Amino acid sequence: MFQFFKKYQKPLFEGLCDMHNHLLPSIDDGSKDIAMSSKMLEGYLALGFTSVIPTPHVYQELYPNTPETVKDAFGNLSKHCLKEESVKVPSYGAEYMVDEVFMKNLESGIPELLLKEKYILLEINFFGATAMLESACFQLQQKELRPILAHPERYHLMENVATYKALKNKGFYFQLNALSLLGHYGPQVKQKAEKLLQAGLYDFVATDAHHPQHLKTLQSLRLSKKQGLMWEGIREFQLDRFS
Ligand SMILES: [Fe+2]
Repeated sequence: MFQFFKKYQKPLFEGLCDMHNHLLPSIDDGSKDIAMSSKMLEGYLALGFTSVIPTPHVYQELYPNTPETVKDAFGNLSKHCLKEESVKVPSYGAEYMVDEVFMKNLESGIPELLLKEKYILLEINFFGATAMLESACFQLQQKELRPILAHPERYHLMENVATYKALKNKGFYFQLNALSLLGHYGPQVKQKAEKLLQAGLYDFVATDAHHPQHLKTLQSLRLSKKQGLMWEGIREFQLDRFS
């Protein structure tokens, strides 16, 4: 009788690489210092992740990071935090804000902070429209890069599945914030994440962790059996590309 509500039993993050997070210390609104980054690494280990690629914000207005500032923060983390038995942090990327500055820079060159040398993680303002995204997507593909849209469920102006499908048809990959399924960003974002998951629109899943509590909160994530099947597809896709 309660078949529909059966829970998905497998570990959710075992073996995965977290490809969106703010683990690097003192560089954006994520980890404040080395001690906090160390705590986050413990959190990753507890969840079963095997590796992490940090993606600090690159956003001219608030976090004007450059390849140099990110490289320095990565060096700091590598020197003080990484231990043999801990999760691996093999490289770094960024979470680029798509704004006028990003578009201007795109005209003159190729962004340097990539994931696995070919993916680029993008975000827009939470109340932003999709027009600039579409243009960015087109130009990035011309440069043989594959854009990944971070947490599509969090953008307020994208309301229906058709809007998302149109964006995917342009060539975007979608990355789910696992915290969205726990209602961490509010009930509407949760509902949208569930809808996009059910529609099979996500390609990747990540924590977008800014501090250790985010990772602790994820310990309580449970999926229905139906959601688990979709999650399994995302996991396989991700393991193939971020191992
Ligand atoms: Fe983020």
